[in-house]
Amino acid sequence: MKNLTLIGNWKLNGSKSSIQAFSNEWHGCDHPALTVAIAPPAPYLGYFAKTVASCLLAAQDCSAHDEGAHTGEISAAMLADWGCRYVLVGHSECREAHAESDELIGEKLRQVQAAGLLPVLCVGEDRHARESGTAETVVKAQLRGALLAGQSTALLVAYEPVWAIGTGLTASPEQANDMHAMIKSELYEVLQSEQDIPVLYGGSVNPDNARALFECAHVDGALVGGASLSAESFASIARAGINYLSH
Ligand code: 13P
Repeated sequence: MKNLTLIGNWKLNGSKSSIQAFSNEWHGCDHPALTVAIAPPAPYLGYFAKTVASCLLAAQDCSAHDEGAHTGEISAAMLADWGCRYVLVGHSECREAHAESDELIGEKLRQVQAAGLLPVLCVGEDRHARESGTAETVVKAQLRGALLAGQSTALLVAYEPVWAIGTGLTASPEQANDMHAMIKSELYEVLQSEQDIPVLYGGSVNPDNARALFECAHVDGALVGGASLSAESFASIARAGINYLSH
C-alpha cells in the first residue's frame, strides 16, 4: 500500500482569526501512511505552527538566494528555522505572476533541498496545451528545465493542470494517472534513481472527488487550494485518504 501526502495551499488567504477558526475545527487525521500539511501565507507560519496541532507546516514559495540584498524575499533556511517541512516551488500562479523560468524554479528547488526541506515542484499544462495535445510535452519540459541529471531525489512533484485550478474542473482520474505515470518515468530518466518520488495531484480537489484520485496507482496524494481553507472540508479529504488506505 502506498503512502499519501495531503498539502493545503492557502494562497493569499487567511488571518489570525481564520487560523484560530481552523484550529477549533481541526482535530487531526491520524494514520501512519497519511502526512498532512498546510501552507499558510508566510507571515502566518509561526502563528499557524503554534495554533494548529497535528498539521505539518509548508511554505508557498521561497527565494532562489540564500541571503543578501534581496528585499522582500524569504530564504529556504528561514523557512527551515520556522519549522517548515515542505516548500512549494514553481506554482503556476508564481510562474505567471513573476515570469519564473524553469531554471529559476530549479535554483529554488535546490535551495530548499540544501536547507534540509522537501521541495514540491509544481508542474502542469494550460488549457491550450491540453486541447492541442501537447500537455505531456509541456510538463516534460518543466521537469527537465528545473531538475539536473543525478541531483538529489529528496523532492515531491505536484501535477496541477492550470485549467483545473480554482475552476471546479478536475482532471479525470485517468488523465491524472496517465500524466503521473509519465512524470514518474521522466523523473526516473533524469535523476537516474529507483527512488519512488511522490507525485501529488492538484486542481479543484474536494471531498467528493478525492477518493477516486487517491485510488489511482500513480497518485500519491493531493495539493488542495480552496477546499483546504475550511478545516471541515480539508478533514473530509483527509478522511477520504484514510478510508482508501484502510480499505
Ligand atoms: P484549487 O484546489 O482551489 O483548485 O487550487 C489548487 C492549487 O492551486 C493548489 O496549489
